[in-house]
Amino acid sequence: MTAAHIPVLLDEVVAALAPAPGKIIADGTFGAGGYALALIAAGARVHAFDRDPDAIAAGMTLAAAQGADPALVLHHRRFSDILQTLRAAGIETLDGVVYDIGVSSMQLDQATRGFAFSNDGPLDMRMDRDGPSAADFLNGADEADIADVLYRYGEERQSRRIARAVVAARPMTTTRQFADVVRRALGWHPGMPKDPATRSFQAVRIHINGELDELVAGLAAAEALLAPGGRLAVVTFHSLEDRIVKQFLREASGMMPGGSRHLPAQANVRAPAFGKPSPAIRPGDAELARNPRARSATLRWAIRSDAPARHPKELAA
Ligand SMILES: C[S@@+](CC[C@H](N)C(=O)[O-])C[C@H]1O[C@@H](n2cnc3c(N)ncnc32)[C@H](O)[C@@H]1O
Repeated sequence: MTAAHIPVLLDEVVAALAPAPGKIIADGTFGAGGYALALIAAGARVHAFDRDPDAIAAGMTLAAAQGADPALVLHHRRFSDILQTLRAAGIETLDGVVYDIGVSSMQLDQATRGFAFSNDGPLDMRMDRDGPSAADFLNGADEADIADVLYRYGEERQSRRIARAVVAARPMTTTRQFADVVRRALGWHPGMPKDPATRSFQAVRIHINGELDELVAGLAAAEALLAPGGRLAVVTFHSLEDRIVKQFLREASGMMPGGSRHLPAQANVRAPAFGKPSPAIRPGDAELARNPRARSATLRWAIRSDAPARHPKELAA
């Protein structure tokens, strides 16, 4: 069964973005539109992005219901393309940008999307239903490359052992096959605490969808697009992503030296692009009781200064 996606840290995200009539906000991860609709209810216009055609198709019904001057404009694009897409639409600056990184409940719960090992389905995991699937990667890559992905994106200490088992079990076509290979390689059996396949699924999903590169590009685009006083809010679901956001905001707010080691120290000093970032904001007990999937969520936000943006290429380096 596909449950509707429950927006995570919704009140906190809305408070961070301070939506109001006349404000234009980009929602880089539309999903089921929980954030976008709350921002619109507060008077803002929203340009919403999603790389998943299913999310955009469902959102079209919402957008169509809004009449001639819709407050919701949908873009079937990755958020790494947000700068080019909005500039092409004649929008030079924004009052807010929000990213809610990761997968939606619709993606997780629909077995045919192949994101979850709790539902058997094709070994797919592609958010945009395009490009190489998880099966293509796991059945075709070198053992060393598979181990590298599991280690880097799943923080899996037994990555080599799992990669060896994957290569021996090829070809794999279903999520259950992959999960069982990981479990057997790690000597897991039902009743033991956390299923070890979780880390490997996360790793392959991040790799297939280039999720960390997307995040880096999306943060740089937000810096370039936000007007002075504009707000950036990012919700992440695991430590790899949170580390990227935390480091970006620390550098961008001048809390940590950035810049190039090839330039003289004086030339590195530039006015910070953001004010002091919020601390990490996590769901409270009431939200966790309502929505256990929120348990690993972290929100960080910051307000854009009037200093020039750093160049996106410089930020991605
Ligand atoms: C956690 S859900 C967002 C839920 C949304 N905030 C809500 O309230 O309904 C994440 C969504 O972002 C999309 N997504 C993830 N990475 C993306 C990217 N790089 N560009 C565009 N959409 C992305 C996914 O397809 C998914 O629909």
